[in-house]
Amino acid sequence: MIKKIQLHDKTFVPFMGSEQIQSAIENLGKRIQKDYQGKNPLFIGVLNGSFLFVADLVRTFEGDCEVSFIKMASYEGTATTGTVTELIGLKENIKDRHVVILEDIVDTGTTLEKIYQELIKDQPASLEIATLLFKPKAYQKEIPVKYVALEVGNEFLVGYGLDYDGLGRNLKDIYIIH
Ligand code: IMP
Ligand code: MG
Repeated sequence: MIKKIQLHDKTFVPFMGSEQIQSAIENLGKRIQKDYQGKNPLFIGVLNGSFLFVADLVRTFEGDCEVSFIKMASYEGTATTGTVTELIGLKENIKDRHVVILEDIVDTGTTLEKIYQELIKDQPASLEIATLLFKPKAYQKEIPVKYVALEVGNEFLVGYGLDYDGLGRNLKDIYIIH
């Protein structure tokens, strides 16, 4: 019997177990260790979805590093500007720092591009992206996503930080829409 999960009006079935998730994060962690040791990198998690990925990835890193979080906030602008998104929460000065943005999932890349453009203005020494999940067929932007733990198809996923309308972030495994 396949374990089905019901969230709101949709049903999800298992896609990837926690062991496979952890082993993909360990592999990614090794690459990041190699590229950043001795550089005191600043890892910036994008809330809410990245909280578990950040927790597991930064624990693979040995040596000095710092961890912070940002969030994209949307609000209604004027009639001409429509919905305005703004990056909130970053207290650190990132000038001349080696910064790694940590995302749960990169889909079209719209969110990521916005974050990247805001952070690059502050002149970090380097700025790269690490994501748990990447949807290459959906990606529409030019910004290189250097560190990808797992490539996936376009189907909607939940669990391990990812939500469907607020639910599912607490699931240990990742589930796919049925
Ligand atoms: P993008 O701006 O199109 O790259 O979408 C990024 C955001 O959409 C992510 O940070 C997620 O919040 C959400 N998202 C995209 N695909 C999924 C998915 O399969 N499951 C849950 N959330 C998703
Ligand atoms: Mg997200």
